[in-house]
Amino acid sequence: MSFESSIPDYIARVDSVLADTLPPASESPAQLHEAMRYATLNGGKRIRPLLVYATGELLGVDKDLLDAPAIAVELIHAFSLVHDDLPAMDDDDLRRGKPTVHRRFDEATAILAADALQPLAFEVLANARVDHAPAQLRMVQSLARACGSLGMTGGQAIDIESEGKTISGDLLRKMFAQKTGALITAACDMATAVAPALEARDRQRILDFSDCLGLAFQIRDDILDIEGDTDTIGKPAGSDVLHDKATWPAIFGVERAKADCDQLYAEGLQHLDHFGAAADPLRVMARLIVRRHD
Ligand code: IPE
Ligand code: IPE
Ligand code: MG
Ligand code: MG
Ligand code: MG
Repeated sequence: MSFESSIPDYIARVDSVLADTLPPASESPAQLHEAMRYATLNGGKRIRPLLVYATGELLGVDKDLLDAPAIAVELIHAFSLVHDDLPAMDDDDLRRGKPTVHRRFDEATAILAADALQPLAFEVLANARVDHAPAQLRMVQSLARACGSLGMTGGQAIDIESEGKTISGDLLRKMFAQKTGALITAACDMATAVAPALEARDRQRILDFSDCLGLAFQIRDDILDIEGDTDTIGKPAGSDVLHDKATWPAIFGVERAKADCDQLYAEGLQHLDHFGAAADPLRVMARLIVRRHD
């Protein structure tokens, strides 16, 4: 079965493990748990978990060992989106076609729900089933670094500081690598952590691929803010323009953004050449990322 045809099954698997992992909404404090579930079980594309499974397929990893990293990276991603949408940040009212968490509940609940999603991700990794002991620790290190001030959170800080400014291409690239690329790379890297004996050079090939696709992912997101419509992207189209965000199209123009996205896609694929057909799952993911409409 091709990876592409397995995607709906993998998404159902992620949804089901997430639903079992999150505390029930009946558990006190009920509104906090309801908000955590609302932020997470609401139809995201699950790109990061899919990257975990795609990398796992390439490396011949048992699917059962991939659930923990797949869920953990999605929990961190969901937390990042809740904070990203807050009035103090991007101030957006719609996410995945529904009111954002602070609109559906209130700001305090949104902040706390995101606060609670973050440690849950690390608890999942600490409890992960692995077949060699250091794997859990390697996954924790990888995700913690990707999530912190040198990763997603740092990138978000640069994003906020850059509003209304024309920043250099180098700073823009750093911002993208951190705010978006870091979690995409961590998804692939955590799958390498549970893989049986993997050569350092092969791991590096996968990381180089994911670095290219992380940048391409955010460039595509920025293009969709301009060319997409709210119904399709499930978040307010034109939000970046409205808030004068430093985006790839704002700094370089839309045509250059499209060309750079294609260039990063091609460059990413080159890093997979060595693996032959075994890397087809990651090739499928790369195409989905750069050709997506939502
Ligand atoms: C949105 O990520 C945030 C960015 C990093 C651009 P996704 O486009 O993966 O959002 P969901 O999870 O599918 O909603
Ligand atoms: C978000 O970038 C990156 C995150 C770490 C959440 P954006 O602000 O462009 O994401 P969207 O467009 O709101 O999903
Ligand atoms: Mg943002
Ligand atoms: Mg945003
Ligand atoms: Mg965006």
